[in-house]
Amino acid sequence: MKEECHHQQRRLLMNKLFNTPAAYVILFLLSYTLGYLSAPSTPSPPSRTITVFHQSPNSPQELSNFRVTSRCADPLPSRLVRETVLGRIFNGTSPYDDFPPPYVGDLLRNNRIKGWGSYGAVFEHLIQEVKPRIIIEVGTFLGASALHMAELTRKVGLETQILCVDDFRGWPGFRDRLFKDIKMVNGDVLLLYQFLQNVIHKNATDTVLPVPFSTGSALEKLCEWGVFGDLIEVDAGHDFNSAWADINRAHRILRPGGVMFGHDYFTAADNRGVRRAVNLFARINGFGIETDGQHWVIRSS
Ligand SMILES: C[S@@+](CC[C@H](N)C(=O)[O-])C[C@H]1O[C@@H](n2cnc3c(N)ncnc32)[C@H](O)[C@@H]1O
Repeated sequence: MKEECHHQQRRLLMNKLFNTPAAYVILFLLSYTLGYLSAPSTPSPPSRTITVFHQSPNSPQELSNFRVTSRCADPLPSRLVRETVLGRIFNGTSPYDDFPPPYVGDLLRNNRIKGWGSYGAVFEHLIQEVKPRIIIEVGTFLGASALHMAELTRKVGLETQILCVDDFRGWPGFRDRLFKDIKMVNGDVLLLYQFLQNVIHKNATDTVLPVPFSTGSALEKLCEWGVFGDLIEVDAGHDFNSAWADINRAHRILRPGGVMFGHDYFTAADNRGVRRAVNLFARINGFGIETDGQHWVIRSS
């Protein structure tokens, strides 16, 4: 009896409790808290992953994948090279026509020719040996080596065309010391104009033509047009990546039996960037390297 009374009292109490809105709120909060505490903890963001590709350094197989795959056009006959370049780059006119334009006339020197190793014996040796109809120079600056080659080919009685690939911008800061005198107009350094003036001064306008673009785009276009060189001098950027790209691109437009060469094989500049590029290129392609003074020489066959 006593027990039944207790049960009844408990039931009444529960009914009272659970029939008030406060009870529902408490229940809701209670279940929310329990649910929150029992849920698995939020997954933390994955720790930073770094994928490392393991490659054996300088493996010929892997490096050869970087080589361009487009094909060059069939080689143009040498006698068509000048007019092709004039047509494609200068709208069929000569860059020497009506030179200098009035606004630069007073800013140029009659001749201002300066290079590095531009009169080395290698030029004469190779011109005597190869008797080139087409020379492509990759890196020209003021034209010292190009004009030296023009003179040598003339001496040997050749009718050679020398194409000078250079953006004619020099490099950042090149006017700081030695070349302060090369003028600038509205941020445009007058290297191309001074080069043209030098060619005119040396009476070499029939032989020497500028190709005033970056080496990458110019060499690609020469390849597309079928302009090949019998002799190619590579002397533009001297860091490894520039030299590597230029050498590979230049080699594609080297006529079979032609010779490719360049300066600064022994200088320590850029941790011997030129030398590393030349050695790697020769190793991958199975070529021998000769040296002539500060120059490297690679024969295509
Ligand atoms: C060392 S100088 C050439 C000197 C020249 N061969 C001589 O002996 O008289 C290098 C030239 O390469 C050019 N050059 C460097 N990197 C180039 C690039 N990526 N495209 C076009 N020209 C570049 C510079 O403007 C500079 O005139």
